[in-house]
This record gives sequence, C-alpha cells and structure tokens, in this order.
Amino acid sequence: MKRYVILISGRGSNMESLLDASLPGECVAVISNKPDAAGLASAAARGIPTVAIDHKQFASREDFDAALAAEIDGYAPDLVLLAGFMRILTDGFVRRYEGRLLNIHPSLLPLFPGVKTHAQALAAGVRLHGCTVHFVTPALDGGPIIAQAAVPVLARDNEVTLAARVLIEEHALYPRVAQWYLEGRLRLDGGRAVLDGEAPAAGALHVPAPD
Ligand code: GRF
Repeated sequence: MKRYVILISGRGSNMESLLDASLPGECVAVISNKPDAAGLASAAARGIPTVAIDHKQFASREDFDAALAAEIDGYAPDLVLLAGFMRILTDGFVRRYEGRLLNIHPSLLPLFPGVKTHAQALAAGVRLHGCTVHFVTPALDGGPIIAQAAVPVLARDNEVTLAARVLIEEHALYPRVAQWYLEGRLRLDGGRAVLDGEAPAAGALHVPAPD
C-alpha cells in the first residue's frame, strides 16, 4: 500500500477530507509548520502521527526546508500532499519531491495565484471561480494542472460565501486526485500531468446548483 504525508498550516479541512475518504493508501504522518494548527488535533483524533516543525525556529527558509525534508523522508512516503500549507518552499525542496508533491489552490489557475484568491476573483468580476489540484514545481502555484472544479460566482457573493462554495469543491476534488495517484494512474511526464484512463466528467468540471 502506498504511503502519504499531508502538510498543513491551519484548520485542516482539506486534510480531513483526505483522511475521511478511505483512500487506497496509508497516511503515515501529518506535519504542520505551525504548532497551534487546529488540524493537528483532528489528525491525532483519527490516529495519525502528527508532528509540528515551527518555521520560526529556523534562521532561513533553507534550514526549515531541510528539517522538513528530513522529517518527511523518515516516513518514506510515495506522495506528499500540501493541504493549506502556507509556506513558500525552496526550489531544492520542490525538486526533491518532484512528481510526488501535490497542492490544492483555491482558484482556477493560472488565474489568481498567491493569496486572497476569492477577493481577487470578486475584484476581477469573473463569473466562474473554483479550485485546482496541481503538481508542485518551483513556480509558485504554477505547476502542471491535474484537475479543476468550478463554481458560479453569484451577484450577492462576498469573500466568505464564495470561499465556502469553493471549499465544498476542494473537499471533493483533492481526495479524487489523491486516489488517482495512489492507484498509480497519475504521473508527471514531460512537464504535464498524465492520467491513465478516463477521469469521470465530474472530476473535470463540477458546478453545483446555486442555493
Ligand atoms: C484552502 O482553501 C486551500 O485551498 C488553501 O488554504 C485553505 C486551507 O484550508 N490553500 P484548510 O486548512 O484545508 O481547511
């Protein structure tokens, strides 16, 4: 059975959606760069080993990433899932896990990389917003796209309501992609995400009925 590690920084709702999805793999650790991340407690409650590595205790980004990589490697994972992990990773770290490092980002990339994606979407006036799961490369939020889910932007939306609608889709999309990887169907090949077999249509575009 393939082994995976989840990296978080906060609430951990995407982590919970992965842990509760009965994925065909074993979550061998949840690691946070913030000792007070709420997700650590909910991972521990599910019997998953948890570790906090406080980035503030390290003099440089390189030092933190080296400690993080040493911890991860101790679990010998096949897959590393960033789930609300709010740290920019060094190129060296990203390259070490190339092809087995995934992230979920709350926008339809390449639109709105970075932070405050829902505010960016509202300011731009887009009518569709959503989330993206991608392989991580050194380009911030710029790695090969694996899957996306879209939601409508409603006239009365604010950042909170839009974020909530996107989050529902995040929780459906990330476990689906993780499952593909753990089944050996998904790989990074020549700078593109390649999926063996068909993805269900719902995996490519999911627009729920507006409430
Ligand atoms: C999610 O919207 C994720 O896409 C973004 O940060 C948020 C984290 O939420 N990167 P959670 O910690 O998974 O609840």
